[in-house]
Amino acid sequence: MQNVHAMREEVRADYEAALGVVAGDDAFAVRFERFFTELRDPLFGLYGSDSRFEAAWQRLLEAIAGVAGGRSRELRMLDHEREVTPDWLQREQAVGYVTYVDKFAGTLAGVRSRLPYLGELGVTYLHLMPLLAARPAPNDGGYAVVDYGAVEPALGTIEELQALASDLRAAGMALCIDVVLNHVAAEHPWARNKDFLITFDDRSEPDAYERTLPEVFPDIAPGSFSWSDEHECWLWTTFNTYQWDLDYTNPVVFVAMASAMLELAAVGVDVLRIDAAPFLWKRLGTNCQNQPEVHALLGAFRAALRIAAPAVALKAEAIVAPRELVPYLDECDLAYHNVLMVLLWSALASGRVALMTATLEAMPPIPQGAGWLTYVRCHDDIGWAITPEDAARVGEDDHLHRRFLADFYAGEFPATFARGARFQVDPRTGEARTSGSCASLAGLESAGGDPVAVDLAVRRVLLLYAVAFAHGGLPLIYMGDELGLLNDPSYLDDPSRRDDNRWMHRPPMDWEAAPRRDDPETVQGRLWAGLRRLIAARRATRAIHVQGVSEPIWTGNEHVFGLCREQTGERLLVLANFTPTPQPVGLEVARDRGFRLTEAAGHVDGRPIEGDRDFIVLAPYQHLWLPGDSQDSAAR
Ligand code: GLC
Repeated sequence: MQNVHAMREEVRADYEAALGVVAGDDAFAVRFERFFTELRDPLFGLYGSDSRFEAAWQRLLEAIAGVAGGRSRELRMLDHEREVTPDWLQREQAVGYVTYVDKFAGTLAGVRSRLPYLGELGVTYLHLMPLLAARPAPNDGGYAVVDYGAVEPALGTIEELQALASDLRAAGMALCIDVVLNHVAAEHPWARNKDFLITFDDRSEPDAYERTLPEVFPDIAPGSFSWSDEHECWLWTTFNTYQWDLDYTNPVVFVAMASAMLELAAVGVDVLRIDAAPFLWKRLGTNCQNQPEVHALLGAFRAALRIAAPAVALKAEAIVAPRELVPYLDECDLAYHNVLMVLLWSALASGRVALMTATLEAMPPIPQGAGWLTYVRCHDDIGWAITPEDAARVGEDDHLHRRFLADFYAGEFPATFARGARFQVDPRTGEARTSGSCASLAGLESAGGDPVAVDLAVRRVLLLYAVAFAHGGLPLIYMGDELGLLNDPSYLDDPSRRDDNRWMHRPPMDWEAAPRRDDPETVQGRLWAGLRRLIAARRATRAIHVQGVSEPIWTGNEHVFGLCREQTGERLLVLANFTPTPQPVGLEVARDRGFRLTEAAGHVDGRPIEGDRDFIVLAPYQHLWLPGDSQDSAAR
């Protein structure tokens, strides 16, 4: 083995001391050697001088070796397959679906029986929302875990999770589940140990931190600290008072969480969603997000998994500004492109694409080997993360634009089609985040029975999904969007949910509406067919592979978005009209870049292409997919 020769002297000494845990298995030995530095360096940097570290380090190595040694033949094959297919999540064939187990199918066994539905849609990746054992409600939709080694009893068992993972693999789908790293439920056994928590005897330090700390839930859980009668001190609670932040300055905490993640890898989970990643490390005088130590921690978790179970990928939930977001792709295979998501809704409300074009143009490139998750809606609110710099670039005022978006999507702006709600209003600025289902925000609810308004709403949903699908990345379909599920007000009857209107866009799956997907005259049929066309178009377009490049272009019409993709000579140009009126675009935009206007360019949207020799006229919310010559032949 050769990687050892690249180690620094002190790393080599630690490596040799650690070799005792490697026995027998050659593949494991190779990985242990290859990723040892990546595991060791961040942990020695964070904890090297902590007296608790030596024992914790030993336990970590044993946990890694234990999980590696326990891999079944099936999982070992998968480890090997993914080592030689590092782009397995990045391919143009990849399509994700996100849902709650109970809302989709009652239980894990129920989900197994619904796999044909997902297969019919073309799904290759299934993210099941929090399913580990949580405290009784309220539990923030399962994000307050009491046992990382057990499934929520109402949903099933670890064995059933294992069986589901195996069924999914057989059906060509990867399984993603949430790991809540930042906090545990107040009832978790770790929360009995003060050393696992971030504690303060009095308010002086919390007050000092709060001077620069933004509030996550100013309405439902103001502040970031809660008094604990049990521990007789203040605790750090970034989210709800029953979600107690873990103290990652303690190496024992790191090892406990790493062991929990390794155990989930052992069950056969393919992707771990790192919940609330930015918050893991706190620093006085900052907003306590995205600290360098967060990246060190993620790098160490990643290395532990690469050594023990290389089939497993990490996905970061870091809903932060572009500059802070891209670095998460250094350690994680995937990260949510919340910037694109926000820009899609912003362009839809304003009917103008300048902000989207300029902001995407200014996005830093992402590291090789990582990819975006592109999405339109998820289980959370939409935080209108538009930075002053990005707004200023196109002559907008960021504050006014965010207020406009919050008003528009709350259904409180003249002529708005949206029916959403404000979430966590900031009384000082009047700004708010937005809750609401994709269909309701896109106008399906306000359309009532008006066929013209229904048509526009369906087209809006498909337009947003079209850009998310063409952008490059793993696109996610959020449960029910394929059938146009509207806001669900039933959460108002549940005292444990009533105050958190994110529940309005977490409706139960409507299995009675689902059969209408076969009827092209219905909303369900149109959305389903539209998404299926998008999936087919993606599969047939190599330029969408993550390793290609995305280049937003100016189309000469401020209402029409243009996005070029290129990957190893294959090219795609998507044109997308963000208004309910026809919009002309000069054809030189396409021709000058070597794109051809073929009849098939309109097939994904499903409408014919209008225009003459020099112009095309995009129909309301129409999107066109133009194939391109390779750059070389275009230049010739
Ligand atoms: C993440 C989840 C969100 C939850 C929070 C706290 O942001 O997506 O739903 O409230 O973490 O766990």
